[in-house]
Amino acid sequence: MLPFSTLIQIDRDSGMPVYQQVANRLIQLIQEGRIQPGAFLPGTRDLAATLQLHRKTVVAAYTELERQDWIRSLPRKGVQVSPELPEIKPRSFRPGGGAAAYKGTTGFVFTRQAQQPTQLQAKGFRLVINDGFPDVRESPLPLLIRECRRLSQTRVYAPRLMYGLASGTEELRRALARHLAASRGLSIESENLMITRGAQMSIYLAAALLIKPGDKVIVGASNYRYADLCFQQLGATLIRVPVDDQGMDVNAVAAVCRRSKVRMLYVVPHHHHPTTVTLSAERRMQLLELIRERNLAVIEDDYDYDFHYASGPILPLASGDHGGNVLYIGSMTKSLALSIRVGFLVAPADFIEEAARLRRLMDLRGDNLIEEALAALIDSGDIDRHLKKSNKLFRERRDVFCDLLEEALGGLITFKKPDGGMAVWARFPKRYSLPKLSARAADLGLLISDGSSYRSPESTENGMRLGFASLTPAEIKEAIGLLQKAASV
Ligand SMILES: Cc1ncc(COP(=O)(O)O)c(C=O)c1O
Repeated sequence: MLPFSTLIQIDRDSGMPVYQQVANRLIQLIQEGRIQPGAFLPGTRDLAATLQLHRKTVVAAYTELERQDWIRSLPRKGVQVSPELPEIKPRSFRPGGGAAAYKGTTGFVFTRQAQQPTQLQAKGFRLVINDGFPDVRESPLPLLIRECRRLSQTRVYAPRLMYGLASGTEELRRALARHLAASRGLSIESENLMITRGAQMSIYLAAALLIKPGDKVIVGASNYRYADLCFQQLGATLIRVPVDDQGMDVNAVAAVCRRSKVRMLYVVPHHHHPTTVTLSAERRMQLLELIRERNLAVIEDDYDYDFHYASGPILPLASGDHGGNVLYIGSMTKSLALSIRVGFLVAPADFIEEAARLRRLMDLRGDNLIEEALAALIDSGDIDRHLKKSNKLFRERRDVFCDLLEEALGGLITFKKPDGGMAVWARFPKRYSLPKLSARAADLGLLISDGSSYRSPESTENGMRLGFASLTPAEIKEAIGLLQKAASV
């Protein structure tokens, strides 16, 4: 008999059920040829004694192997490794056998997207000052996983894993409609809501239903690059208007509307990307008047509404009287974790129906389990409690960050303490080279942007977002120390 007690090692900390570990290891031993096809395995009682496990665990492991056809039970003989192993080896159709190496470039011509900002790769860096992301260490993921587990254990759940609406689960849309009514003054029903994979998908869907090639779209002079690129990809011509410390200049928007036929306006009302300014209440009122007067379609991208530290946030344009012209977009990705892709689009019901039809062409439905778990967390108040905690934590981090930044780089950069969001917008002198700064910081083990993702081709800004929310005060101190060193060369 093989020395199973040394061949099968159980790792109690791995998180994988023990029976699964036994089954996996036996499969591995069979694949490696150490247990031959046709050989007999020890009985469950013997193997359990050898491995010091409960017999039921070994029975579960053997049941798993039998289901996968690795073994079979022969009455009165025992447990035999299948003479024909269940490994299907595909047959080659090539004369010489085998498979060709897959090519790195296509043999045909295809449409290429416009140049996109380089994605920062944090791997290998000691510290990262990012675009303004939440701290993954503070994510409420354990709560979400707890809810997923609870839901998946209920008997009625299985069918829900198969079907789902392209507009999102009814549970989440109802919970979110209540939540948005209470927190953002949006008097909506679930039919006005669509759950999307992050705010980004909402931006794309809304824009795709509005924009035809050649249409004019108003955006900020500096703007969220992935919105710019999305509108341009759909064929829009962008018309840029200034953004000052009150937000987008509404007089400039009105002037553009007077001289051109405008299809749509895109506005980020809280903590505008990249400059972090908030559209003031006066400008909101002025803009609403213009929207009504011109019947102007608007995408209001309020991706960062939940993180406001000064006074309270300001109610969205969508909560005002806009005649069905404001499409409102929000996101849960910053409240949960960037890779839990839940965002939402608020719109009149006819638009939501059409957006769901369009979404189906690229993504049939969202993740029911996550959506329902999230609905439960919203209803139980867990999300609100988490947001309160995060706001307190991020406000403290913002204060530490801004104080240290002023001390270290106040002579070089100009910035205003943001009233919300997760980043500071730092302006550098016109000719200061951000790519060189970024390269010097990288040499010191600090990853920062090279500024390119914040600069549209028409922009005269030379700035970069410095995210503070994902760093502890000690990390902030170290990161700013490194940034100062990189800037002082
Ligand atoms: C202004 C703006 N809108 C939308 C998004 C997309 O967010 P999400 O992760 O929800 O897709 C971002 C991402 O940072 C953003 O800055």
